[in-house]
Amino acid sequence: MSKRQRTQVGIIGAGPAGLLLARLLQVQGIESVVLEARTRDYVEARIRAGVLEQGTVALLEEAGVTERLRREGLVHDGAEIAVGGRRVRIDFRALTGKTVTVYGQTEITRDLIAARLAGDGAIIWQAADVAIHDIETARPRLTYKHAGTAHELVCDFIAGCDGFHGVSRSALPDSSRQTFERVYPFGWLGILADVAPCSDELIYAHHDRGFALASMRSPTRSRYYVQCGLDEKLEEWPDERIWRELEIRLDCDPPPNITTGPSIEKSIAPLRSFVSTPMQHGRLFLAGDAAHIVPPTGAKGLNLAASDVHYLSRALLAHYKKQDDGLLGAYGETALARVWKAERFSWWMTTLLHKLHDKTSFEAQMQRAELDYLASSRAAQTVLAENYVGLPF
Ligand code: APR
Ligand code: PHB
Repeated sequence: MSKRQRTQVGIIGAGPAGLLLARLLQVQGIESVVLEARTRDYVEARIRAGVLEQGTVALLEEAGVTERLRREGLVHDGAEIAVGGRRVRIDFRALTGKTVTVYGQTEITRDLIAARLAGDGAIIWQAADVAIHDIETARPRLTYKHAGTAHELVCDFIAGCDGFHGVSRSALPDSSRQTFERVYPFGWLGILADVAPCSDELIYAHHDRGFALASMRSPTRSRYYVQCGLDEKLEEWPDERIWRELEIRLDCDPPPNITTGPSIEKSIAPLRSFVSTPMQHGRLFLAGDAAHIVPPTGAKGLNLAASDVHYLSRALLAHYKKQDDGLLGAYGETALARVWKAERFSWWMTTLLHKLHDKTSFEAQMQRAELDYLASSRAAQTVLAENYVGLPF
């Protein structure tokens, strides 16, 4: 016998997408249950990018979770591109009137979980074997196992927020599904260290030896990345080698002040662009990495999850408060229009800044010309800035 429960919105996944959706619904009095495969400790320890668009911060405000962000988040008016030993500053505020906020995704996740639990919202940790049923009916169901017991959750709607490796995407009928993908022939080696950042703003560096990024989490914690080969192993990259490589790739004028120190985390991640369409079928709606992946150049992953959730929460609100299903019917198309633009920007920025070609190739010359153009044209810088701070939603 399985235990039966009922809720309005069943949410699979307690990543930023699922947690933000749960909170936005919760503050509007719409009930949901979040099913998460992992433990709370695991979810709260995951380290990922941390640059928030102004629109994402506004959504977190709506979700009632910006108290710490306002205190600890670092507002950045611009970012720099280092190329050929030169630093080119992209002045977001002057070019767009907007800024970005640097605040780790790990911290956002913690804030969202704390607010959800303080408001008596349900998160089922370690929910195993989550399966989706009856999405073409008015009573879709989720089944799962928890602490050895079988459970059934009867819902009005299901939100698949279970990331790239989740089960939701494959619950859409094969006949309607289409995927679009680019796998890049390199990865990012990331290092986190409790040392002061080398500059006030982020530096994206294009160098003959490969891309490098100087980022940060706080005035005392730095996050750096270097482009590496897909076959490279972490063991081949002791801390000293990473710091040496960063010194070389970030060498520019005026020189950034890199403080080295022991790593507290180190990892290699592949880069991928991926979109799966449609983002909805019947009463199942996908949001975040479950439907799309961007390479990290430009830090769009979390922001894109947030804009999906914005559209989906608005649509669910219209259903419950106004008995209007127009927004729900249009959700996938509305979200995808923005997703594709962020995909384009992330792909463009990745292609612009990484070492892709041998120096003598035509493509390498095109890349050089594009970087030159960016350095000298306000129009080109405005295009970068407008996309980096986030297109409207
Ligand atoms: N059942 C329940 N939970 C699941 C299942 C499953 N079968 N499969 C995956 N999950 C959980 C994962 O453990 C994870 O906590 O779903 C959550 C998905 O979270 P994310 O992968 O963080 O995806 P999302 O919420 O869409 O956030 C997108 O995260 O990957 C980064 O760069 C990306 O910043 C972006 C953001
Ligand atoms: C990060 O701080 O982890 C980060 C920042 C900017 C990016 C990617 C990652 O484009």
